[in-house]
Amino acid sequence: MRPQVLVTRKIPASVMVRLETACDVDRHDDDTPLSPDVLLTRVTGKQAILSMLTDQIGARVIEAATDLRIIANIAVGYNNLDLTAARARGIVVTNTPDVLTGATADLTWALILAITRRLGEGERMVRRKGWPGWAFDQLLGMELRGRQLGIVGWGRIGQAVAARAEPFGMHVAYAARPHRRGGPSGPPSPSGPPVAEPMPLDRLLSTSDVVSMHVPLTDETRHLIDQPALARMKRGAYLINTSRGPVVDEAALVWALKNRLIAGAALDVYEAEPRIHPDLFDLENVLLAPHLGSATTDARTAMADLAVRNVIAVLSGAPPLTPVP
Ligand code: DGY
Repeated sequence: MRPQVLVTRKIPASVMVRLETACDVDRHDDDTPLSPDVLLTRVTGKQAILSMLTDQIGARVIEAATDLRIIANIAVGYNNLDLTAARARGIVVTNTPDVLTGATADLTWALILAITRRLGEGERMVRRKGWPGWAFDQLLGMELRGRQLGIVGWGRIGQAVAARAEPFGMHVAYAARPHRRGGPSGPPSPSGPPVAEPMPLDRLLSTSDVVSMHVPLTDETRHLIDQPALARMKRGAYLINTSRGPVVDEAALVWALKNRLIAGAALDVYEAEPRIHPDLFDLENVLLAPHLGSATTDARTAMADLAVRNVIAVLSGAPPLTPVP
């Protein structure tokens, strides 16, 4: 009998074809998440699940999936999975690192440029037909040259963001992830790590003009940026978050933005997606993107393809290509 696999959301047809040549696939082709109850019934009898960050694969789901051998999460983050429960059952868990690094670093830069040059505000003004015409001091932003970019989390994506800073003339500082053992994650870049100054998080926060978050969500990083951290930031600095929403305390951020403790924030991720703190909608000094970090056709296809290759490898008795660390 061929292995039974659940794919929880739509993936590119070319990648699905490859999976279907090796497995019987229960596909949920709609691009909405399966409800927890439906997920619970559909994992029964499956040897593999290809999941997305919107699927909560907790202990109950893992318990119901008695035949499960691999969970292949189509994301670099895996905070939606109960790793302990999976490991206790000997289930392999994989993610999709590397293939989305460039796309996510590019999006981070799009946000850095957009918030420091007030593009969101400008676009809203033009769209509501409220532009009075060119003015000398209209929507003045912050120039990046000579300023400090502080990267929190020195993994693949943090380093890729740092590597893009040079043409903008920014000094780069980084604070490695709290409680992380070992050095930076991921293979070293062929050109060597980007030039950057290591510093403790507190100093990075108080000296950087742009602070960009690149840590995974763990117990240690939840609300890493809370009220005291925001209060420590430079007046006039910007906060960028393309990592995971709960890394920033959204209510504290609203407080900091309202009180102008920082100049602005650009967010791609939120504490309770797709819900967003209601006050953020009314603040001009925040740019809100809908979790677009890896949203390029190239990256998303490569992510699905890597997940499928992990599934096929594990189901055929080979080691996974990208097990979660
Ligand atoms: C990931 O892969 O973790 C991203 O958040 C998806 O865009």
